[in-house]
Amino acid sequence: MKINILSLFPDAFSYLNESIIKRAKEKNLLEITISNIRDFSKDKHKKCDDYPFGGGAGMLMSIQPVFDAIKSVKKRNSVIIFPSPSGKVFTHEDAKELSLNKHIIFVCGHYEGVDERLFELFDIKKYSIGDYVLTGGELPTMVMIDAISRQIDGVLTKDSLNEESFTDNLLEYPQYTRPAVFKGEKVPEVLLSGNHQEIAKWRKEKSLEQTIKNRPDLINK
Ligand code: ADE
Repeated sequence: MKINILSLFPDAFSYLNESIIKRAKEKNLLEITISNIRDFSKDKHKKCDDYPFGGGAGMLMSIQPVFDAIKSVKKRNSVIIFPSPSGKVFTHEDAKELSLNKHIIFVCGHYEGVDERLFELFDIKKYSIGDYVLTGGELPTMVMIDAISRQIDGVLTKDSLNEESFTDNLLEYPQYTRPAVFKGEKVPEVLLSGNHQEIAKWRKEKSLEQTIKNRPDLINK
């Protein structure tokens, strides 16, 4: 998969050079290019924001630099995503579906948002990463890229994907590693038993318990 990120703050993305995403890039399963929207501004001072027509608080991103930045990378099969608190809430299912695409463009908004005509000129999906307002689209973009990349075929093993939270609408069961006793706290006996049937049963019960406690809404799905 190829990902283009368009942002006014390209230095914000160093996390994408770490861990699983780093390895996905090294394995050529993922290629990420970051462009500075400011480089596309035709204003002599490279200005990328302006006052909203009709008044109101704050500044808006001007349409010209964003439009040209998208034009410079868009192909016929590109999916364009604009992170926004007014978008559809991004889920595990969205991450899985989006991981099947060849090319995704993330357009990071800043200030109070972007001139709405952008959404008339391009087919853009808006996604929210939760019911709170962040200062820009950079963090949501990294969150979505992280969630999408780990679903790309070959990035993780099938087992780790099958047993994680949200599979079958359940949260993941608790996990333990050595030592078997730490500061008097013992690992549940069943996990040391070697009885795979009993372990699977215990994990299913714990998954259910976690889900009922923290996310009862998932149970009804
Ligand atoms: N931009 C600002 N807040 C956001 C949110 N919660 N989700 C996605 N994009 C955003």
